[in-house]
Amino acid sequence: SWTMESFVDKEIERIRSIVGPEDHVIGAVSGGVDSTVAARLMHEAIGNRFHAVLVDNGVMRLNECANVKKMLGDKMGINIKVADAADLFLGRLKGVTDPEQKRKIIGNTFIHVFEDEAALIEKELKETNATGAIKYLLQGTLYPDVIESISFKGPSATIKTHHNVGGLLEDMKLKLIEPLRELFKDEVRALGKILGLDDELVWRHPFPGPGIAIRVLGEVTREQVEIARLADNIYIEEIKKNGYYRQISQAYAALLPVKAVGVMGDKRTYEQVIALRAVETKDFMTADIFASAEWFLCLKRISSRIINEVKGVNRVVYDISSKPPATIEWE
Ligand code: XMP
Repeated sequence: SWTMESFVDKEIERIRSIVGPEDHVIGAVSGGVDSTVAARLMHEAIGNRFHAVLVDNGVMRLNECANVKKMLGDKMGINIKVADAADLFLGRLKGVTDPEQKRKIIGNTFIHVFEDEAALIEKELKETNATGAIKYLLQGTLYPDVIESISFKGPSATIKTHHNVGGLLEDMKLKLIEPLRELFKDEVRALGKILGLDDELVWRHPFPGPGIAIRVLGEVTREQVEIARLADNIYIEEIKKNGYYRQISQAYAALLPVKAVGVMGDKRTYEQVIALRAVETKDFMTADIFASAEWFLCLKRISSRIINEVKGVNRVVYDISSKPPATIEWE
């Protein structure tokens, strides 16, 4: 729409009027729509003075880091660094089973890694004799996030833990810059299209900050993450191939911490269970399960693919709980 097109020009102008010609901006990217649109806009406005940081927390989806780096770095020409912190995150998650504890650890570790990365970039800037310094922190906050953080003080406060890079704002005296703070999700998608992002990205399902760590129920280990990752990859691949991706608001595979008995050839197996979730929702506050006769047949094929292809899994179940009382995530 032409209103979103004028938004692009106005916002780029606004960014340029705020960020001085020597100033640099840093921002975390995740591969999701919001942070990518924000990054693309910032790059359009100030080019290489924008520094994107992708934190590899060890619980991202299959090939996600490499794909994000390719998309933002190679395709869009954005200055992007990947902070490989998988070992650090997984080390700190060792032995932890409580969902809120997992969220806290991931949120706090994220802040530390991001701050270290910011300090490194600042150091490099000084060494290359650049006159500028990092002055701003870019965040892809949307209007509903703004409202939510004002009106709620419940579990949703922890939902935003990983966005709370308060230390950076104080220690490095960075100022916050939020180009999407007046937009709703559908407007961000429209903006993404205008900025030339692929449909695949523009229509991407949301993905939680704590990632696969809250989809591996119980203790998070590298091996468990790998199983969940492979199952999820097959699930999403089939959803896309069969044309369901746009109809479903969010879908993922979770790995349950229980074992079930099965049979393979003439052998008894005793392996883990994958739970598939697919929901339809407008606002993610309430959600219905995605269901139809054809979808059920598709699930049947997906189930046999997962059991055949993912080692350690011999059973797949479909989650038929609506929200409320269940949440979209299991943890
Ligand atoms: P629930 O499970 O609360 O999820 O029904 C609602 C939406 O929020 C996402 N979600 C999170 N997003 N950090 C995030 O950034 C989190 O800790 C978190 N927990 C849930 C979830 O994927 C769904 O889209």
